Amino acid sequence: MGLENKLFHGKTLAILTGGGDTPALNSSIESIRNRAALLGYKVFGIRQGWKGLLGDGDIIDLTNQPYDAWYGGTALRSSRTNPFPTKKNPESRVPQILKNLERYKIDVLVTIGGDDTNGAAKKLYETEGIPVIGFPKTIDNDLRTRTMHRYVGSQIEAVVCPGFPSAAKGLVELMTRLRTTAESHSRILVAEIMGRDAGWLTGSAVFGGVEMALIPEVEMTKERKEFFFERVKEMYMRSAKKSMIIAVSEGVRWYDETTGKVDVVYASSEVDEYGHPRFGGISGVIASEISKRIGIDARAQITGYYARAGECRNYDRRLTMTLADKVADLLIREDYGKMPVLSKIVKYQELEEFNTGAIDMGDIGNKSLPEVYYDVENFRFTDLYVDFLSHILDKPKVITFDYDFPVVIPE
Ligand code: F6P
Repeated sequence: MGLENKLFHGKTLAILTGGGDTPALNSSIESIRNRAALLGYKVFGIRQGWKGLLGDGDIIDLTNQPYDAWYGGTALRSSRTNPFPTKKNPESRVPQILKNLERYKIDVLVTIGGDDTNGAAKKLYETEGIPVIGFPKTIDNDLRTRTMHRYVGSQIEAVVCPGFPSAAKGLVELMTRLRTTAESHSRILVAEIMGRDAGWLTGSAVFGGVEMALIPEVEMTKERKEFFFERVKEMYMRSAKKSMIIAVSEGVRWYDETTGKVDVVYASSEVDEYGHPRFGGISGVIASEISKRIGIDARAQITGYYARAGECRNYDRRLTMTLADKVADLLIREDYGKMPVLSKIVKYQELEEFNTGAIDMGDIGNKSLPEVYYDVENFRFTDLYVDFLSHILDKPKVITFDYDFPVVIPE
């Protein structure tokens, strides 16, 4: 079949990536590009998110280019540029964006992003009639995808966002490694994990064997902190090797004795164009309070970009291809203003288009960790969360070395 006979011959689709990178972005770009090109589209990449549509524009042609889908991050680069007026930047950039969409003759826009990027795309669709399709991404896993999780007769609204599976797998590996150092020094390690205001990613550390976890959804008030320190001491004393790992979300709300307030620990007072401050440092605060309050040597580890960086893992690769199949379906039906999602949580082998759906971009928003996934009393994730995660990751294989050598007493 000649190119000119293809359904969308003569049309151009452009892809952009906005917000924090994930290991699954290149896989998403490649998968969408392949399907759009098959349908006859010329496929452009817009560099640095919305920023690439400002000024003269920064656009590249991806149509027939070799592309490494397994390489993490985004070859299109990313930014947190907001097209709409904000406190930080009161000027609207929408006119520049509209001008460039016209200059580069872009017919359809696919925005790969979280709540911010796709929220802006949705606004452009609603206010300017720009044909957009949103594509989910975030290691935080807090973008509403309406993915249902069935567990022993109950139905839980969960989330599965490309990027999360790879980040979770990386964290499991890291937690497993940290254990040997914690054990060698009889220490408590407080591992701080990204995820902004949601505890989804922190939960993945459970598969790496962490004993306790703190999440942003449950405030650490003065009273709760007392209870927490008691439990830490108890767990540590009970541990065979006198060591433990506590996973804490970067966005944990912690009672500060000096101010008398419960708040997040900020890495900087700067906010981005979507109004988000930068979190960081809670692990240091918790580790030093543990050392002071219960006299056990505790150290902080900020895991930071470890989760976000590196290669795309298998689940994410197939997930992005599956969601891109849904994008092709939306393109064929010219059904814009939608975002493809996994409609139910499935194992790798079942990542197929029939398990996907499309949600209205108007319904996109943040989704925090469901209450049933976290055991408030015991500072742990529940069996329900473990069941959710075991669809995405293999059952935990925590390597242990259980030694109990006889002590030598001099004669
Ligand atoms: O949203 C993804 C994320 O990695 C969050 O978990 C984290 O709070 C934030 O981005 C950090 O962003 P940046 O790399 O821009 O400081």
